[in-house]
Order: sequence, then C-alpha cells, then structure tokens
Amino acid sequence: QELKLSLEQIEKGGYEHFMLKEIFEQPKSIHDTMRGRLIVEEGVIKMAGIWDHIERFKNANRIIIIACGTSWHAGLIGEYLIEEYARIPVEVEYASEFRYRNPIITDKDVVIAISQSGETADTMAALKLAKERGAFIYGICNVVDSSIARITDAGSYTHAGPEIGVASTKAFTAQLTILSLIALKLGKHNGNLGNAEFMSLIAELDAIPKKIEEVLSSTHELVQNIAKDFITTTNFLYLGRGYNYPAALEGALKLKEISYIHAEGYPAAEMKHGPIALIDENMPIVIIAPRKGHYDKIVSNVQEIKARKGKIIAVVNKGDTQVSEMSDYVIEIPQTSECFSPIVASVPLQLLAYYIAVYRGANVDQPRNLAKSVTVE
Ligand code: AGP
Repeated sequence: QELKLSLEQIEKGGYEHFMLKEIFEQPKSIHDTMRGRLIVEEGVIKMAGIWDHIERFKNANRIIIIACGTSWHAGLIGEYLIEEYARIPVEVEYASEFRYRNPIITDKDVVIAISQSGETADTMAALKLAKERGAFIYGICNVVDSSIARITDAGSYTHAGPEIGVASTKAFTAQLTILSLIALKLGKHNGNLGNAEFMSLIAELDAIPKKIEEVLSSTHELVQNIAKDFITTTNFLYLGRGYNYPAALEGALKLKEISYIHAEGYPAAEMKHGPIALIDENMPIVIIAPRKGHYDKIVSNVQEIKARKGKIIAVVNKGDTQVSEMSDYVIEIPQTSECFSPIVASVPLQLLAYYIAVYRGANVDQPRNLAKSVTVE
C-alpha cells in the first residue's frame, strides 16, 4: 500500500493531483501534438492521415464529427474551424444520439471521431454504423492502438500523453490543436485559405504553447484566489460567443464534474431567451471575452448582466478596459487569433474548476459517479 502511494506521488510529479499536473503539462502536450506536423519555416502542415486521403476530404459532401462530453465540445470548435477555413459543411453529433436516430449517411461523407480514450462505447457504435454505410472514418484519439483508433480508416493521434484525471484537460487542448491543423491543411489544399493568411495562422498556432505558459504563470495564483470566493456557490453560468461558445460549455462541464456545482454554458446572446431570468447578485457568470471575436456584442451582454447585479468573472485580453471595468474579477490572457482563442481561454477555466473543487474537498481526480472512459452505454 505504501509503495503504491509513493509510486503515485512520483507519477504526480510534485503536483497535488493529476489534474493540476495535466493542466500544467499543456504547453508541452500542445507542442508535442504539433511536433513533426507544423513546420512553420517551410510553411507546411504534414499530416499523412489527411494527405493520403486528400481527395476523399476535398470531395466530401460534408464532414460529420462524432464524440461525447469534452471531445464533443472540441468537435464544436472543429466545426467552426473547418467551415471557416476549408469551407466544407460540418455537423457535430453526440455519438449517443447519432447511433440511434437512423442518420442519413453516404459514402460521400467523412466522419471524424474524437475520443481521448478511444474506448467510448457510444462513439465506437456510432462509428461502426457510419462505416457500414460507407463513410470514410477519421479518428482523433489520444490512446494509441485503442479500439476506436483501430477501426478508423485513417487518423491523427493527439500526443498529449496519458491523461489520468477523469476531467479532461490536456487531451481537450490537444484535440483543438489537431482540429486546427486539419482545418488549415484542408483550407490550404482546397484553395479556400490563401497563402498569406495560412502563413500568419500557422505562426500564431506555433506560438500557442508559449502563450499557455504565460497564462499558467500569470493567472495561477489569481485564479486560486478567485476560487476561494465561490466555495459555497450553488450555480454558475458560463458565456461565450463564436469560437468561445463551446469553450463556455467546456468550462461549465469542468466545474460541474469535479466540484458538483451546477453550471451551464450558453452562447452569450442566448441569455435573453431564458437564462437571464436566473441572474441576480448571487449568480456568478464567467464570460469569455477576448478582443477578437464579437467583442462589441459581448460588451452589451455584459451590460445586461451588470444591470441585473450578476457577479462577473471575465476572461479578457491583456489591456482590456471595457469588459474589465464592468467585471468583479478579471483574468487576463494573451491575445491570439480568434480561432485559437478557446485553447488559451480554456486554461484559466480549468484552473478555476480545479481550485473550487479542491477547496470544497472534492475528489478531483476521481469525481463521484464518473469513469475515465465510458465503455458502457
Ligand atoms: C471530460 O472531462 C469527461 N470526463 C467526459 O465528458 C469525456 O470527455 C467523455 O466521456 C468522452 O471521452 P473520450 O474522449 O475518451 O471518448
């Protein structure tokens, strides 16, 4: 027993929990995921899985992304990326819904399955169905040689390394990295993404690990302190727009799964269609409001919340004034292209969920009722 405990301590590398270790590993895991693929000096993205089947992607009627949980959130951001840069129609489906609703699927469709574990039962079953109907199946898995990785026609591994904490962190940002690479590569090859924009986007993507490092060192203590004020809170709202709407969903999922606080993510503009009724001085609202991406619209959403006395925790870019002035708590992150901003913005949200859960005495690495991979329906 003692030996087992000390081995675990070694594996945690000095961190109190695997989740915190994995949050801090993200500069490296994103870098590893890009290594050998993103060659900025040559202006290329090398991905054999895509290149070997480029005609299949170019001629696809549409891409259907299938996943569950956090991987599904990554898929939503993948939809924005692929539609914006490659102009291929994308649909994102919960594997559990897809498999039972007799979906229309043909041999002109490309299905991308996203799964950290590569063992999720619903994702596996949905893929089998899509395969039977002739679709080309592409996998984005973290675990090498997992069941999903084995039944796909091609794929790209996220090289995030083993993720032990039940709450997915580094696998999520690695999935976003792969989806960014795929979108940019497809856009370049099908002529929808011009060379100048391609070059500037790949340089931005290459700089993400450094920016995450910066976020970790500049926000770690601050977020820890913010978390202390929300130990007894019972509800949270997370809002974002565009690329950061799925980041809001992910922030909320992180909080609920490890702290057991009820949290909901919404596209900020949907507030007035219902959730705004919940806002009073007891409701904390996390707002993701980077400078690039509907900033002015977010400002008016923040004004609406302020008028109802909601407690605002804002994730903004360095030097922000408008949203910051109206917010109760401000977390600054470095600026990046809009399409990569969820990768950077997710990090302080992971830390926030982590510290709130720790202060509440929750079992962060193994939350109640949850398993790392959901191998049953
Ligand atoms: C993430 O924090 C969750 N534990 C969960 O939603 C997870 O992302 C989901 O079960 C999908 O798992 P997979 O990526 O291994 O398929």
